[in-house]
Amino acid sequence: MTKIIKQPINIVKCEWSGNRANAFDTNGVKRTSEITVGARQKAADGGYLLGKFETKNGKFQWRRYEGETSSPVQVSSTVEVPQEHEEILQFIHSSYGLKPKMLMMSELKWKYLVRSGVRGKNIMMTGPAGCGKTMAAKSLVNSLDRPDYYFNLGATQDPRSTLIGNTHFDTKKGTYFSESHFVKAIQTPNSVILLDELSRAHPDAWNILMTVLDYGQRYLRIDESSGSDTIKVADGVTFVATANIGNEYTSTRVMDKALMDRFTIVEMDVLTEGDETELLNIMFPSVDSKVLTSVAKIASLTRSESKSDTARITSGISTRTTVELCGLLYDGFTLEESAEVSIYPQYDNTGGVDSERTFVKQIVQKFCDDGSSDDLFNEDEMATAEEDNS
Ligand SMILES: Nc1ncnc2c1ncn2[C@@H]1O[C@H](COP(=O)(O)OP(=O)(O)OP(=O)(O)O)[C@@H](O)[C@H]1O
Ligand SMILES: [Mg+2]
Repeated sequence: MTKIIKQPINIVKCEWSGNRANAFDTNGVKRTSEITVGARQKAADGGYLLGKFETKNGKFQWRRYEGETSSPVQVSSTVEVPQEHEEILQFIHSSYGLKPKMLMMSELKWKYLVRSGVRGKNIMMTGPAGCGKTMAAKSLVNSLDRPDYYFNLGATQDPRSTLIGNTHFDTKKGTYFSESHFVKAIQTPNSVILLDELSRAHPDAWNILMTVLDYGQRYLRIDESSGSDTIKVADGVTFVATANIGNEYTSTRVMDKALMDRFTIVEMDVLTEGDETELLNIMFPSVDSKVLTSVAKIASLTRSESKSDTARITSGISTRTTVELCGLLYDGFTLEESAEVSIYPQYDNTGGVDSERTFVKQIVQKFCDDGSSDDLFNEDEMATAEEDNS
C-alpha cells in the first residue's frame, strides 16, 4: 500500500524583514498573522517552508513542509504599501489617527511626514534638541507597516564598519568581509531606515551615504579604493534622518549642502505653551494641573527670551526637559527642587547675577510657592516676555 502524503492547502516562505519574520504564500499574500511568531522565526532561520495542513478533526495547522512548490514563493514585493493613487490619498489623509496620542505634532506636519514616507522620499526631521524629532521619526516608522531598521549615527565612531562592514582575518578562512547590518537594510525592499542624529555623524558617514541617498544613484560603494563593488539600494526603501540644525549645539557639525539637498525637510515645531500644557497633562494626569501649567509657562518664557533680540539666554527649555521635570514632580519633588536638578545645570553659571542660570532661576522662582525671589526680574519684563510669546 502506498502511503498518501498529505498536501498542504497553502505554502509559505518566512523571511526576516527588520525585526519581524514575515510569511508570504505562493501568491505573494502575507500570512504573517496566521502563524505563530516562533514558527515563523524558526522557519526563517532554518530556511525551510511552512505548510498549512488540515488535521484529522478538521482544523488547520502550520508546520514544516519538505516538499516542492509549484511556483516560487514571492517574498517582498507584497508588503502592504498602498499602490494606487486613490489608495495613497486615502492613506495619507486618514493617517492622523496613526499618530500616537503622546506625540504632539500638527496634523499638517504629520500628514506631510506620512506622505513623504509613502512616496519614498528621503526625509530629514529638523529642529532644536528635545523637540520630538526622534519620537516622530520612530512613530512614522511604526505607522508604515514596513520592515524597519534603526541606526544611531551620532553614537558611532567608525562609520565604515557601521555602514559598510568589517574585514576580518581568520587563520582558517583567511581574510574575509562581514557586511554591516546597514547593507542588509538597504537590500530589503520597502524597508524604512532610520538614520538618527545624522547631523552629529562623522563626515565619513556623510560621504558614504551620498550615493546611497541620491535618487539617481542609489548604491553603496563597498570598496571605495577600487571604485568597484557596489550594492544597489532595493526598490521602495525610505530613509528617515534626524538632525539638530541651526541650534545651539556646537557638537553638531555643519552638514554638507550637497547632503542636505538629498532630503525633504520636515521641520518639527517647538511646542506652543498650550500644546506643552496639554502634553504634560496627558502624560502626568496625577500631578497638579496648575503646576504643569506653570512648567509649560516657564519653558515658553525661556523659549521666547532666547529668540528675542536682546536675549539673555542662548536656548529655551526643551520639551524633553519639561517632561523630565514633570517626572520629578510626579515622584514627589517640588517645582523648585525639580528645576534645580533638571533645568539649572543646562545654563551657564559664570557671571554671577548676570549669568544665564540666574536669569532662568528668576523665571522659575516667579512660579514657586513662596514667591520670595528678589526682583532682579521685574513685572514689566515678564509681561513683555509673555506678550512676545503669544
Ligand atoms: N513634540 C513632542 N511630543 C511629545 N513628546 C515630546 C515632543 N518633543 C519632545 N517630547 C518628549 O521629549 C523626549 C525627547 O524627544 P526626542 O528624543 O524625540 O527629541 P529629539 O528632537 O530627537 O532630540 P535630540 O535633538 O536631542 O535628538 C521624548 O521622549 C518625549 O517625552
Ligand atoms: Mg533625537
